[in-house]
Amino acid sequence: MTVLIKNGRIIDPSQGIDGRKDLLIKSRKIEGIYAAGKAPKTDKIIDASGCIVIPGLVDMHTHLREPGFEYKETIYTGTMSAVKGGITTVCCMPNTSPINDSVSITQFILDKAAKEGACTVYPIGAITTGQKSEELTELEALLKAGCIAFSDDGMPVINSLIMRRALEYSKIFNVPIISHCEDMELSKGGVMNEGFVSTILGLKGIPKSAEEVMVARDISLCELTKGRLHIAHVSTKGSVNLIRDAKKRGVNVTAETCPHYFTLTDESLISYDTNLKVNPPIRTEQDVAAIKQGLKDNTIDVIATDHAPHHFDDKDREFDAAAFGISGFETAFALGLGLVDQGILDLTEFIRKFTITPSHILRIDKGSLSAGADADVAIINTETTYTVDSLNFISKGKNSPFHKWKLKGIVEKTIAMGKVYDWR
Ligand code: DOR
Repeated sequence: MTVLIKNGRIIDPSQGIDGRKDLLIKSRKIEGIYAAGKAPKTDKIIDASGCIVIPGLVDMHTHLREPGFEYKETIYTGTMSAVKGGITTVCCMPNTSPINDSVSITQFILDKAAKEGACTVYPIGAITTGQKSEELTELEALLKAGCIAFSDDGMPVINSLIMRRALEYSKIFNVPIISHCEDMELSKGGVMNEGFVSTILGLKGIPKSAEEVMVARDISLCELTKGRLHIAHVSTKGSVNLIRDAKKRGVNVTAETCPHYFTLTDESLISYDTNLKVNPPIRTEQDVAAIKQGLKDNTIDVIATDHAPHHFDDKDREFDAAAFGISGFETAFALGLGLVDQGILDLTEFIRKFTITPSHILRIDKGSLSAGADADVAIINTETTYTVDSLNFISKGKNSPFHKWKLKGIVEKTIAMGKVYDWR
């Protein structure tokens, strides 16, 4: 089966391509990019007039919830939701039940993904058994089973010696250690950013230092070990500054942020909408400005969703008792496009941070439209505005603070491993 995507604007940062060209797909692979009208005859034609044609997005930070929390999300619903958002590669964090700290859970996830997944799934293995910070997992066995990185996401690695060892191994195996930076004593009991707004609302705050002391620690350990450190979900100005300084010194650190951290401020929590409750919390205007600057000057390398679907019952509670997390797959691209509209990033740089850069960090063959690559493509109309209806998300997690927001940028079609999904 051959498919030609024509009349679109192909943007592929991995090859420095931006122009009106045609993209040819042959079964599950990219065959090549041709000057308009120069491609051979094909079985099927997709007209991408008025759209950009880009590599399927690579989301290096997601929660698919299976095994154990299938009432929140499954590998099937999660990957379908991702594909709806133009995302064709998802890396899933290990905080499932059981936790993905063993070869058998990794195999379970990969088997399920092969059978039911709508796109490519790469498991991220736990750094420590049970995410308890007591002992390292069998890192090499997990890698051989198919994990592509390690993280205790949802929990920090409290024990600094264990983090040091993990970073030492990361150098040997050449895979990143993805750090959820949180000092649990400083954040204890907190439900939102600590500051003026938390005081007004009478909610217990999480200080920015809860994140920053751990960013500083992990950068120090990375410097000591010469390992590979990736900082997850950066939310504060202080973290951006620490990472920028570390990169200047040549420390092998990369970082990501998520759409909610460059779109929202803690003032929005005045609504007491529990869909705004996320960890790390949404910060202040100064933090948002620093994150945007960090994205612009490449201190922050990657945009990832931290897709964290929760059941309605987990969110429809008092603010203090509600679960942390935002269902992010189906709004991520449009929110990121906001950065382009504001002149923070150009379209190519935005797409780079959501395709080839995470692929390079994880050393996976994704995020490119080069000949021979997997046929993962997103066809997106960047001019159309729509109103978000989170109740219509494919994800089981309807927990979006962007419900009823007007956003620009609609995914028209996604092609995941050669399979065409038409959303219109
Ligand atoms: O808000 C969050 N939700 N932050 C995390 O680190 C974990 C995630 C989850 O698993 O729900």
